[in-house]
Amino acid sequence: MAAADRARASMVDVLCDAGRIRSPAVEDAFRSVPRHLFLPGLSLDEAYADEAVAVQFADGVATSSASQPSMMAIMLEQLDLRPGQRVLEIGAGTGYNAALMARILGPSGTVTAVDIDEDLIERAAFHLASAGVDGVELVAADGALGYPPGAPYDRIVLTVGSGDIRPEWVAQLVPGGRLLLPIAVRGSQLSTALDLGPDGVLRSHSVRSCAFIRLRGVGASTDVATRLDGVGLMLQVPEDGPRAEAAGVSAALAEPGALLTVPVALGAADVWDGFGLWLALTEPGACRLLAAEPETGLPDGLLPLGPGSGTIALASMADTQPPGLAMVVAGPGRPDGRGPGAVAVREFGRGGPTLAGRLLAALDRWLAAGRPGAAEWRIVAVPAGAAYEDPPPGVGVVRKVHCSLLVDLPVPVPS
Ligand SMILES: C[S@@+](CC[C@H](N)C(=O)[O-])C[C@H]1O[C@@H](n2cnc3c(N)ncnc32)[C@H](O)[C@@H]1O
Repeated sequence: MAAADRARASMVDVLCDAGRIRSPAVEDAFRSVPRHLFLPGLSLDEAYADEAVAVQFADGVATSSASQPSMMAIMLEQLDLRPGQRVLEIGAGTGYNAALMARILGPSGTVTAVDIDEDLIERAAFHLASAGVDGVELVAADGALGYPPGAPYDRIVLTVGSGDIRPEWVAQLVPGGRLLLPIAVRGSQLSTALDLGPDGVLRSHSVRSCAFIRLRGVGASTDVATRLDGVGLMLQVPEDGPRAEAAGVSAALAEPGALLTVPVALGAADVWDGFGLWLALTEPGACRLLAAEPETGLPDGLLPLGPGSGTIALASMADTQPPGLAMVVAGPGRPDGRGPGAVAVREFGRGGPTLAGRLLAALDRWLAAGRPGAAEWRIVAVPAGAAYEDPPPGVGVVRKVHCSLLVDLPVPVPS
């Protein structure tokens, strides 16, 4: 066996053992398509590591990458491709995912893969040719508009994060077709497979945590984190509804108060897409704090997930409550890692104690619900203009420009 084949076999074994690859079709695709030909210039070890590889930057920020193979496997399983289907991929990048999909779809299927950058499309064409892959049409276009000439599609997959569900994507799906996209939900990004129903409403088939580069072009989302004065932190607020103000959060941070221990160990996934998402869906004033410049570091223990990461918090809203903040921080003795560990809640400002009480009560409800993570949520996406009855109490409603997301909580949340 050649060195590249050995490296690929070992990567696929790891993905199978970890349960990322679950179906024979996805396994066959990963075993057949040579990832190293889509990442020329990397060693075989690098090309077959289970890591994302940035392939393009603008102002020091990655604007294109070959996604992490684990995440690609998770999404291909969510996509549930069948031979002969027509698929639109938005975010062609290196062309590797398009090649995997072409393998699963077989000669009777088609993949149309669009990328916003012409030179990425040219490079992807070269990679596909060197890997001998047929059945992929590459197009330089803004995928926010879909790609009408190839519509309708059985599957539309975004391998780039979106803040909303564009009407073009829904319009270009066949009835019953599946849209898979990393969508922003109040600070979490969720890889969500949505099936289009006869009523024009999309219902989730599966939801997973993810972290993708964001869409550029006409569909670029406008929700941005605001830099807080003098503390090396960015404040990220929900995309809809009442929001905490940056000035109030900055003022509160200048007045640290009590540290309350939390009788439960939380890992990064719990803080971010588990309890963090629960808090964001159930408590007004929920927000996220991110390190503004990861390389400069932050005061010890301020962020539970390491200096390059972030945390969740509950902040008071301007004019309605005394200024304050309650923030999840590293607990005593917590190593600076991402595994489960001790956390605590730090109060800031006059409103801190009340907010900490609310935050801890929300944590109790999350624990009582069985610590739901991203995979437990069900999402209904109601496009703007589609008729849909009001959701019952306990369903989180996230309003976007082009749709409303109804996020089903595993248990009713007391008001
Ligand atoms: C994570 S990479 C995709 C990886 C790719 N699927 C692969 O297998 O290598 C995200 C890609 O989305 C592209 N992108 C960003 N905004 C876009 C848009 N509006 N339309 C199409 N592609 C876009 C980026 O240029 C980037 O190549």
